[in-house]
Amino acid sequence: MNPLHRMDGRLFLEEVSLEELARVYGTPLYVYSQAALTEAFDSYERALAGLPHLICYAVKANGNLAILQHFARLGAGFDIVSGGELARVLRAGGQAAKIVFSGVGKTEAEMRAALDAGIRCFNIESESELSRLNRVAKEMGRIALVSIRVNPDVDPKTHPYISTGLKQNKFGIPIGRAQPLYRQAASMDGIEIVGVDCHIGSQLTDLAPIADAIDRVLDLVGKLSSIGIRLKHIDIGGGLGIRYRDETPPDMTDFRSILISRFRGRSEEVIVEPGRSLVGNAGLLLTRIEYVKRGDTKNFIVVDAAMNDLMRPSLYDAFHDIVPVCQSGEPDLPCDVVGPVCETGDFIGLNRAIRAREGELLAVLSAGAYGMSMSSNYNSRPRSAEVLVNKNKIHLIRERETIEGLMAGERLVY
Ligand code: LLP
Repeated sequence: MNPLHRMDGRLFLEEVSLEELARVYGTPLYVYSQAALTEAFDSYERALAGLPHLICYAVKANGNLAILQHFARLGAGFDIVSGGELARVLRAGGQAAKIVFSGVGKTEAEMRAALDAGIRCFNIESESELSRLNRVAKEMGRIALVSIRVNPDVDPKTHPYISTGLKQNKFGIPIGRAQPLYRQAASMDGIEIVGVDCHIGSQLTDLAPIADAIDRVLDLVGKLSSIGIRLKHIDIGGGLGIRYRDETPPDMTDFRSILISRFRGRSEEVIVEPGRSLVGNAGLLLTRIEYVKRGDTKNFIVVDAAMNDLMRPSLYDAFHDIVPVCQSGEPDLPCDVVGPVCETGDFIGLNRAIRAREGELLAVLSAGAYGMSMSSNYNSRPRSAEVLVNKNKIHLIRERETIEGLMAGERLVY
């Protein structure tokens, strides 16, 4: 299903015209398709059907309250990495009992908030974190439910910044050191062991490393069982890639085969933590061409979106397809689509073939994940608005930030 389509040459998301959205809500504007969110979630449900499972949406991919609420309604749990994400999920109606808390640097305050809420599980990333959590839980008269995030040392074959499962990465406990840590956890009064987890990286297009990681984790689960430690769940993380340009994202049927062959007949619940693959292709960034600077060998299309709105191209050299909202003839010269931010690294796309006309709209595709959630106010640019479309209905799910809002919280000294 592709919710993005053309009618009379003009782009629509579901039944809503992008030109109309830009006219009413302005640009830059993040636009999401509810049908695409639902379809992506359902594809995981189908992959996991027949196995006890929980799909914990990785909030960091896109934490807008309305998106969290939609996933909560579909039955999702959530993978959070901060107290802020915890608060968002609870505000959006997510159930605490379906929240797993990942991340290497959980503070004491975050632990307390999560214990108070009664979350499903802390994914423990170090010996020190386990000791701290034990102490905090005991002080509060609570028992913290934990899983240990193991680092299986497999190469996920993705961008080095988003690879997490190699031993040189900061994440998890080396799988070889997990067993003693489980023993230690089992002896702690404030801790109850409920699971194991791993997450090897993001934008994975090859399923083999995931299968490999699962096998290593299952091997550990067997060893733990032989010393009397039985787990309620096995969390295999997120990471499935999406198509930005010409990648072949993992096939969900193949993913299902991997899961079924490893988990059928087992009693543990399978948890997955997808982010990008649930929201990435459900969203786009709508931007207007402010200026066209014509050069000898290339043109620059200066748009009103910038690296502060969509950081992925600047940070990871990531490719996002850019298409005109109204089809308008052949491109003249190759062009760089750049923003107004004062950095050479401020680009949305390089060397593209786009016919540039000032005032026209462009859609930057596959921007639903790690777009708005990584945006900033750099160059004192207010953050964009966000809109969710459902057939012909339009929900403004985040107002455009105001200039006043930009400075809220700051104080003059004289
Ligand atoms: N679970 C854990 C523990 C994670 O660290 C992540 C992502 C996920 C789940 C979700 O992974 P996903 O299904 O979205 O691949 N900003 C980067 C991506 C960073 C991913 C960080 N961790 C980007 O824009 O490509």
